[in-house]
Amino acid sequence: MTEAATRLTIRRPDDWHVHLRDGAVLAGVVPFTARQFGRAIVMPNLSPPMTDCAGVAAYRQRIMAALPEGSDFTPLMTLYLTDSTDPDEVARGFADGTFVAAKLYPAHATTGSAHGVTDIANIRAVLERMAAIGMPLLVHGEVTDAHVDIFDREAVFIERTLAPLVRDLPELKVVFEHVTTREAVQFVESCGSNVAATITPQHLQINRNAMLVGGIRPHMYCLPVAKREVHRLALRQAACSGSARFFLGTDSAPHAQSLKEAACGCAGIFNAPFALESYVQVFDEEGALDKFEGFASLNGPAFYGLPVNPGTVTLERGECRVPETIDANGTAIVPFHAGEVLGWRLLA
Ligand code: NCD
Ligand code: ZN
Repeated sequence: MTEAATRLTIRRPDDWHVHLRDGAVLAGVVPFTARQFGRAIVMPNLSPPMTDCAGVAAYRQRIMAALPEGSDFTPLMTLYLTDSTDPDEVARGFADGTFVAAKLYPAHATTGSAHGVTDIANIRAVLERMAAIGMPLLVHGEVTDAHVDIFDREAVFIERTLAPLVRDLPELKVVFEHVTTREAVQFVESCGSNVAATITPQHLQINRNAMLVGGIRPHMYCLPVAKREVHRLALRQAACSGSARFFLGTDSAPHAQSLKEAACGCAGIFNAPFALESYVQVFDEEGALDKFEGFASLNGPAFYGLPVNPGTVTLERGECRVPETIDANGTAIVPFHAGEVLGWRLLA
C-alpha cells in the first residue's frame, strides 16, 4: 500500500461495540451499521436493560426485523450484568448462542447503566464461570466515585478494578471498551493476549478541546469523555501499531438532537453513518493504511474466536459530505463529523 493509493480494499469489517437502540429509532439507525459492517456487538443498555436470555433473544428478533431487505448483517448479542445475574443463565445463553459476551457497566457510569454492577465482588461467581467457559467480559472502564475527576475515571478504574480483576482471574477474556487514555493503552499492552481493547473513531479524531473550545459542543460529548491530546496520540499509535490487541468498536450511540442540545445533554456520539470513512482518515494521516484491515476486520474475529467475514469493502479517496442531521425514522440525530467533508468514501 503506497501513500498515493486511491483505493483501499479490505476484508469486510465488523463493529465490536455499537448501540442500536430499540423501537422506531432502531429501524432508523441499523441500516447504517449494516451497510458498513458484517457483524456488530450490540450493547444491552436498553430501558429496561437486557438482563436475561429471553430478553436478549427477543431483542435480536427485533433487530433482524428492522434490517433492510436483503441485508446479511449479523447482530452479535450481549448480556447486561447486574448485581444479581445468575451464573447459570450466563452459561446457558453463551452455550446456545443467545449472546457472545456479557457487559459490565459500573452502576451509574454512563447512559443506561442505572442497573449496573455496584461492586465487582457481587458478580465474582459470574466472572469465574465466564473465565471457565471462555466467554468474553466487555467492560465500561470508569469508576463512578464522586470524588474522582471525570477525566481521571478511566485511569483510576484500571488501578482499582481492572488490574486486580485481570490478576485474580488470569484466564478471563476481557475487552476494555472504548479506551480513551494512554494509561489504558499501556495497561492493555502489559497484559496477555486474553485482554484487548476497542477504540472509537471520535477518540482517534478529537480531544477535549473539540467539546469545550469556542462554546460547549454537545455532539462531541460521549462517555468516556474525550481526554487531552497526549491521550488521543497514544490511541492513534495503538490503533495503527498493528497490534492484534486493539480493534474497531465505534460506540455509535444515537440520541435525539433535542436530548443532546439540552441543559443536561446526554452522552453519546452517533458515528455509524460514516464510521469507516472516519477511521480510515486516521490511518491515512498516520501513514498506516496497511494496518487498517487488521484493526477493522481481522483482530476482532481473532479475539472472539470467530471466522473473518466473507467478502470485502472498498474505500476510495474523494469527497464525502456528512449531513448536518440524519432522519432516523422520525428522530433527528446529528452525526459525528456533521457538516464536514471527509477525504474517503465507502463504495456501495
Ligand atoms: C452510550 C449510550 O448512549 O448508550 N453513551 C456513550 O456516551 N458512549 C453508553 C456508553 O457506551 O457509555
Ligand atoms: Zn457504548
